[in-house]
Amino acid sequence: MEDERRVVDLGAGFTTLHECKRLAKALNLKRLYVKDDTVNPTNSFKDRPAAVAVSKALEFGFKAVGCASTGNLAAATAAHAAKAGIPCYVFVPSNTETNKVLQAATYGAKIIAVKGTYDEANRLAAQASDEYDWALVNINIRPYYTEGSKTLAYEVCEQLGWRAPENIVIPMGSGALLCAIWRGLNQFRELDLIDGLETRVVGAQPKGCSPIVSAFKSNSEDVTPVERPETVTKSLAIGDPGDGIYALKVIRESRGFAEYATDEEILEGIKLLAKTEGIFAEPAGGVTIAVLKRLIDSGEVPRDEEVVCCVTGSGFKSSETILETVPKLVEIEPTVEELKKVIG
Ligand SMILES: Cc1ncc(COP(=O)(O)O)c(C=O)c1O
Repeated sequence: MEDERRVVDLGAGFTTLHECKRLAKALNLKRLYVKDDTVNPTNSFKDRPAAVAVSKALEFGFKAVGCASTGNLAAATAAHAAKAGIPCYVFVPSNTETNKVLQAATYGAKIIAVKGTYDEANRLAAQASDEYDWALVNINIRPYYTEGSKTLAYEVCEQLGWRAPENIVIPMGSGALLCAIWRGLNQFRELDLIDGLETRVVGAQPKGCSPIVSAFKSNSEDVTPVERPETVTKSLAIGDPGDGIYALKVIRESRGFAEYATDEEILEGIKLLAKTEGIFAEPAGGVTIAVLKRLIDSGEVPRDEEVVCCVTGSGFKSSETILETVPKLVEIEPTVEELKKVIG
């Protein structure tokens, strides 16, 4: 920033890196950490890029901001716009999870619900950025947006005692987060803040929308878009990932992997993380746990290595999906006899 008075700060970042002994044991892994970005101001990592982009938009003199979003960026941009006191326009696919829309609307954003996929909403947002004088954070000021997320990598290194992790598992939609984390790790190495950089970067996607994983597995340089994503992980349902080819390069350069998980594995991943570590994640978090499990089981991530899993959004964001996986409520009369029937 040139002008610090324009900084819009809701307190994004500085999230906890949990050492997860019980989850490590369940997965049969030596050492596992979860970077818990569910505790950001709007409950996803998207506060990191939104804080930088909205601040920069103010500095450039834009009078309104917005974004194309699968839901989390909508809430993050809307909250930062509210703090700045400027209008916000968010373009989302009309099947976006209720709580994400509700959250952005409550912050005062104008919600444009597009009949179609994220890619179609994104295309309309790009046209809108030509039509109106808005700063759309992941479109016409995208370079600033993509810078914001690298703080996650800085924090992980600091929290590990100024060193990079052996492996890091990152959920991928557009692939921007994964590239930003890699940039952050490399900057710390260039500044000699960490000794070396041997981190293997693992990119995780849901099977029903896994264009980057498909390219990795077929040794392709190109990412073929998925036209109709079908997955419980709405936040990662980006069929034509903007940073897909760059994410692919990072994964290969770091000797890492790209892997997918099925919807069933993703929902199991959410429950396993919650039951072993007390962390409530949305499906994007379930994807990272499920992909890690796959890679440990296949031997690609050795059991004696250390892994950091990025859990990027809260379970409260996806209540309609998660509700289907928990037992139905049993109502009882307020008596001990009735209680015994339930407890057994
Ligand atoms: C919770 C969550 N995790 C991960 C991602 C993926 O981020 P990117 O599009 O930068 O790959 C998203 C994208 O919306 C998200 O909402």
